[in-house]
Amino acid sequence: MSIKNRREQWSSRWAFILVATGAAAGLGNIWKFPYVVGESGGGAFILVYLVAIALVALPILAAELLLGRLGNHNVIDSLRRLAVGRGYSAHWSKLGWIGLLAVFIVLSFYGVVGGWTIAYAYYALSGALSAGGAAPAEHFGVLFGRTTGTPVQALGWQTAFMVATALVVGSGVRHGIERLCRWLMPLLFVLLVCLVVHAALSNGYFGVACRFLFAADVSKLTGESVLSAVGHAFFTLSIGVGAMLTFGSYLPERVGLTATAATVAGLDTLVALLAGLAIFPVVFAHGMEPAAGPGLVFVSLPIAFDAMPAGQLLGIAFFALLFVAAITSAPSMLEPMVEYVRERGTGSRWRATVLVVCAVWVLGVAQVMSFSAWSDVRAFGRNLFELSDFLVSNILLPLGGLLIALFAGWMLSPTQTNGRLGIAGSFLHGVWRFSLRFVAPLALLLVLVSGLR
Ligand code: PFF
Repeated sequence: MSIKNRREQWSSRWAFILVATGAAAGLGNIWKFPYVVGESGGGAFILVYLVAIALVALPILAAELLLGRLGNHNVIDSLRRLAVGRGYSAHWSKLGWIGLLAVFIVLSFYGVVGGWTIAYAYYALSGALSAGGAAPAEHFGVLFGRTTGTPVQALGWQTAFMVATALVVGSGVRHGIERLCRWLMPLLFVLLVCLVVHAALSNGYFGVACRFLFAADVSKLTGESVLSAVGHAFFTLSIGVGAMLTFGSYLPERVGLTATAATVAGLDTLVALLAGLAIFPVVFAHGMEPAAGPGLVFVSLPIAFDAMPAGQLLGIAFFALLFVAAITSAPSMLEPMVEYVRERGTGSRWRATVLVVCAVWVLGVAQVMSFSAWSDVRAFGRNLFELSDFLVSNILLPLGGLLIALFAGWMLSPTQTNGRLGIAGSFLHGVWRFSLRFVAPLALLLVLVSGLR
C-alpha cells in the first residue's frame, strides 16, 4: 500500500458537520431515546446522559476523528499503521475488526427498522394511518404487528431501505453521502421544529412534558439507568465502531477537530431533546404511557395523531422525519466496511458497496424473520433482533470505545495530539487527555462489566 493515500474529502467544515450530525442523529434519537427516557424516569436519566456525552463520549468522538486524520486509511489499516509506526503491536488493528463487526450487525437491524419508517411514511401519505372508526389501540397494534410480522412485506421494506443506502454510498463520499446530508439535514431540523412548535401550541401538556424531561429527580436513578445512559451516549454519537474514524479520515487538514466534534455532539443532543419535546406532549395529552417501549412511536403516536385535527399531516411530517433520520445515519455504518473492501480489493466503490450490502442484507433477512417465523429461536432469552441490540450496545460499542480511548490516550504523545485538535497547549487539551486515559476507560469498564452480568 502506498504511503501517500489520496482519497476523497468532504468539501468544507460545515459539510462535515452536516454529514456527522446526519450519522449521529438517527433512529437512536427519535425512536430509541424517547422510549428509553420514558422507561428510565425522565429528567434524571437525561442529566446523566448529558454528563456522559460531555465527559466520556465527546473526548472519544474527537479521538476517533483524530485517529482517522492521522491514519488516512480505512479503519483497520489506519489503526495498524498508527500502532506499528509508534512501535506497538499490529494486533491493535483487531480493534478495527470489532468496529466492522459492530457496524455490520447494527446495519442489519437498522435496515429492518429503517424499512418500517418507509412503511409508515407510506401509510401516512396514502391515508392508511387512520383507524377509520375501529378501536384505535387495537387497530394500530394490529397494523404494527402486520408490518413487522409479515415476512414478505417486512422484507420488501427492508430491501428498499438497503437499496437506498447502497445507492448513496455507491455514489461516493461527496456525491453520495455529503449531497444527501446537505439536502436532508436542514429538512430534518425544519420538520422537527415544526412538530415541537405544534406540540407547544396545540395542547396544554407542553409544560408537563418539559417537567418530565428536565426536572431531574435524582432519587429515581438506578445503577441500571446510569449505565443505559452511558451506553446510549455512545450509540447516539456513533462512536466506538470506527464510523467516525472513517469519516474523520476524509476531513481536510484545515478543519479543527475539537470545535467540530463539540458542534456535532451539541446538534445531536439538540435533536434528541427536540424529539422528546415533540413526542411527550402528545403522549401525555392522550393519557398514554411514556414507558411504552419500542412501540412508542409506531403504535402510541399514530393513536394520538388519529385523534388530532390535522392528524394526517402530523403523521406525514413525523414519519418523514423518522425516515430522514434513518437514511442519513445508515451510510455511516456502510461506509467503513465499503472503504475497507475498496482499499483492500479492486478499488471499485460500486463493486465493494454491492458486495457488502448483499452480506448485510442476508443477516437482515434473519433479523426480519426474528419477528415472525423465527421468533422462538432464542439464545440467552432473546431473539436475534434483541440479541443483536444487546451485543452491540452492551458489549461491542463500550469495548470499542474503551480501546479507542486507551489507544489515543496512552499511545499518542501530547506533541502528536496538541496542534491537530485545535486546542493546542490549552487547559482543554489536558482535560481531553485525562478523560481518555482515566475517566472514559473507567466508565466504560463499568458499563462492560455490568452489561455482561
Ligand atoms: N447514531 C445512530 C443513531 O442514533 O441512530 C446509530 C449508529 C450509527 C450507531 C452509526 C453506530 C454507527 F456506526
